[in-house]
Amino acid sequence: MALQITDLTQLRIGVLYGGSSPERPGSIASGEAAFKSLSAQGAHAELLDINNIAWDALYGRVDVALLASHGLGGEDGKIQGALDTLGIPYTGSGVMASALGMHKPTFKKMLAADHIDTPRWVEVAPSWSAATAVSTIRYTLGGPCFLKPASGGGSLEAGIARDDAELHAFLEKRQDRVYEAFIAEELITPGRSCTVGVLEIAGELTTLPVHDVETDREFYDYEAKHDLSLRREHCPSVLPEQQTAHMQQVAMRVHRLVGAHGLSRVDFMAAPSGRAAVLEINTVPGLSPHGNLATMARAAGVSYDELMRHVLATAFSKPAYVP
Ligand SMILES: Nc1ncnc2c1ncn2[C@@H]1O[C@H](COP(=O)(O)OP(=O)(O)O)[C@@H](O)[C@H]1O
Ligand SMILES: [Mg+2]
Repeated sequence: MALQITDLTQLRIGVLYGGSSPERPGSIASGEAAFKSLSAQGAHAELLDINNIAWDALYGRVDVALLASHGLGGEDGKIQGALDTLGIPYTGSGVMASALGMHKPTFKKMLAADHIDTPRWVEVAPSWSAATAVSTIRYTLGGPCFLKPASGGGSLEAGIARDDAELHAFLEKRQDRVYEAFIAEELITPGRSCTVGVLEIAGELTTLPVHDVETDREFYDYEAKHDLSLRREHCPSVLPEQQTAHMQQVAMRVHRLVGAHGLSRVDFMAAPSGRAAVLEINTVPGLSPHGNLATMARAAGVSYDELMRHVLATAFSKPAYVP
């Protein structure tokens, strides 16, 4: 059912943000911007840090939750489940799509089963020694590879290993890291990081213009994501139209494949060959006005304030039962 929110003043909106995942700073930026926009549009909004919410107190206090919580404990289905149990409508995906989107190995298995291109990969279990991991990765992937946490985000704790020594050094340091489970992927190089926003507008699921990023860093790492001088963004993308149209189609397929709802952002690596390999789906994309989703919305003629209203409306357009 499509819902147009015409009168924001009738809604008490809890903007859920923060939390204790390594993506907390990004979540704070998302939450504060959403809160500011909704308040300026006349809504009764309040910012609620998921680190110290008394969940039962939410009941009767907010009519709807706008989720600006990224990463573990915010984007992985746990909050979504709590809100389902409380009977509070919330923006975006339900429990199952959130959990699938957070766990890259499970997500990639779904892509592979559906014949959607994703870099070849190996799961590195926390119990494996570095030596076992190096030989398994070498045997399965060969060549240089890309390492990232199985349930991470924001390019945190991710990196390239060009040879066995680098791979070994990276894996040896796992114990000092926040995340324990990793995946090693085929390195897509040369390639460009792209992303496609999927957004429900007045009940209609649409894809936003493709966003691509050039960086002089080794890859689109945490530093490049947080320092404008280290990247050059293009939205709409400057890549060939055939490749961008393909990414938009695939993004929509991926959104539906995991059962996502309302909004998502699907990340790709695009190669000069025309290949566009899916890296991940973000079920709670960053909401900062300078972030990828807002930039793509702007390129589609959707202002930040409008974007926030579309995001909010997704809380009321969910089917009766979402797993
Ligand atoms: N297989 C890969 N080959 C080359 N670069 C990659 C690969 N996987 C990830 N990257 C780089 O790391 C960035 C973040 O990867 P992504 O899978 O989106 O994880 P995160 O959840 O941390 O955003 C990508 O934008 C890209 O620059
Ligand atoms: Mg990403």
